[in-house]
Amino acid sequence: MSKELALRLEGVTKDFGGLRAVDGVALEVRPGERRALIGPNGAGKTTLFNLISGALPVTLGRITLFGRDVTSAPAHRRAAQGLEHDMDIALELSPRVTVLHYGCVIADGSRDEVRADPQVREIYLGA
Ligand SMILES: Nc1ncnc2c1ncn2[C@@H]1O[C@H](COP(=O)(O)OP(=O)(O)OP(=O)(O)O)[C@@H](O)[C@H]1O
Ligand SMILES: [Mg+2]
Repeated sequence: MSKELALRLEGVTKDFGGLRAVDGVALEVRPGERRALIGPNGAGKTTLFNLISGALPVTLGRITLFGRDVTSAPAHRRAAQGLEHDMDIALELSPRVTVLHYGCVIADGSRDEVRADPQVREIYLGA
């Protein structure tokens, strides 16, 4: 059954010290399906993306990509299986972009200006 799923999250949880940032998330995404994650500042959206991409290790739970358990797989192995954290897709949604990093505006402007910003490149684009 899980074979037909592109992505499956079961009980995905992340603790930062005493703070539970992501608490038991369950999610199923089928091939071709689109999902959006919304929530207030600090809700745990970025942390959840980082858990899915492998940038951060989970505290508890399981992540399956096309039926394979990738919970402990490094980010590059997940990328080889087709999973990528791509900020450019978000940038296509609006001609003007404001980038908040932990509550501070670090860049604001057109897509090209934001993409060229040194802090954005270092923190989000891995450049
Ligand atoms: N590396 C970290 N170490 C400690 N606490 C963290 C870390 N990263 C995130 N947190 C905390 O985890 C919680 C969730 O943060 P996260 O950045 O995932 O929220 P978010 O939904 O992406 O917020 P925003 O809308 O502001 O982008 C917050 O309380 C945040 O302070
Ligand atoms: Mg965030």
